[in-house]
Amino acid sequence: MHTLCAVLLLAFVVLACSSPVVNKLWEEWKTKHGKVYDNQTEIDFRRAVWEKNVHLVLRHNQEASAGKHSFTLGLNHLADMTAEEINENLNGLKLEETVNFTNGTFKDVSDSPLPANVDWRKEGLVGPVRNQGLCGSCWAFSSLGALEGQLKKRTGTLVSLSPQNLVDCSTQDGNLGCRGGYITKAYSYVIRNGGVDSESFYPYEHKNGKCRYSVQGRAGYCSKFSVLPEGDEKMLQKVLASVGPISVAVNAMLESFHMYSGGLYNVPSCNPKLINHAVLLVGYGTDGGQDYWLVKNSWGTAWGEGGYIRLARNKNNLCGIASFPVYPTV
Ligand SMILES: *[C@@H]1O[C@H](CO)[C@@H](O)[C@H](O)[C@H]1NC(C)=O
Ligand SMILES: *[C@@H]1O[C@H](CO)[C@@H](O)[C@H](O)[C@H]1NC(C)=O
Ligand SMILES: *[C@@H]1O[C@H](CO)[C@@H](O)[C@H](O)[C@H]1NC(C)=O
Repeated sequence: MHTLCAVLLLAFVVLACSSPVVNKLWEEWKTKHGKVYDNQTEIDFRRAVWEKNVHLVLRHNQEASAGKHSFTLGLNHLADMTAEEINENLNGLKLEETVNFTNGTFKDVSDSPLPANVDWRKEGLVGPVRNQGLCGSCWAFSSLGALEGQLKKRTGTLVSLSPQNLVDCSTQDGNLGCRGGYITKAYSYVIRNGGVDSESFYPYEHKNGKCRYSVQGRAGYCSKFSVLPEGDEKMLQKVLASVGPISVAVNAMLESFHMYSGGLYNVPSCNPKLINHAVLLVGYGTDGGQDYWLVKNSWGTAWGEGGYIRLARNKNNLCGIASFPVYPTV
């Protein structure tokens, strides 16, 4: 992370006068992220988008070192895409208009003091960070992430479940594969289908395919799911601490979210009503006096803090983190 900052700072100094340095940075970035473009028009367009993002990242990180932001941005693998393209291709979460809460469950959560920190990765309830690619399947990764945690709690084994199984097979439940889907309808499928295959049996392909579910590869199941009350961060904290990882919806529309590279994400303009992405809540804590949520994304490890983001907590439901939390029961 520090070398990248140094490189960027260097680039900033010379950006105006020396395009060879920018060219070098561009070549290095393309190599690092395995970028190959089809033709010159495409190269020119991607380069222009990338340069715009270079400026955005530099300006933000300068302000961050001056103490204006609690997080930094970086030129990750998404840096040659416009915000519109990212929101179109990677943020495929759809939201229910009306939802039936399963109430009563939360009252059972004990009122004993909550731990100051929770990180379900330490209990082995969270699998490795994955990459959904250019497919709006966040809803499948997020919902299965919570299910993997509950299955690990029940069986003692953490098994990666198959998002491709959900992408290919849950259209009947109202999901649209790579064009988007619902957390609740992901669980509806697993309940209706009587199971979901493992990732190893039914590997991810980041595109829509024909349903190939087989009971032979069945590695998970679900009996019901519960939706938490909207916008209640205290309740979310309680349930997270007692239940395990929770599937949540967030506003991931801002460029600062796309280019996030580390620190505590705290952007007051991140509107909790504009939800478009599903992620997995795996913990919470406090850093430098600011409470945060620990969130696992499905954009690969090159994004954020090894694929994770720390998002400001108890800031009026920032980015809608508590707007639509759902957890499955096995
Ligand atoms: C160049 O590549 C882009 C993206 O791959 C494609 O959409 C476009 O049609 C191509 N243009 C030409 C002139 O081949
Ligand atoms: C949700 O509640 C509505 C009204 O109370 C009811 O008509 C509907 O069948 C319920 N849906 C489910 C999935 O339980
Ligand atoms: C909540 O629980 C009460 C009592 O069990 C029940 O009457 C009510 O319909 C429930 N509401 C929802 C939204 O499920």
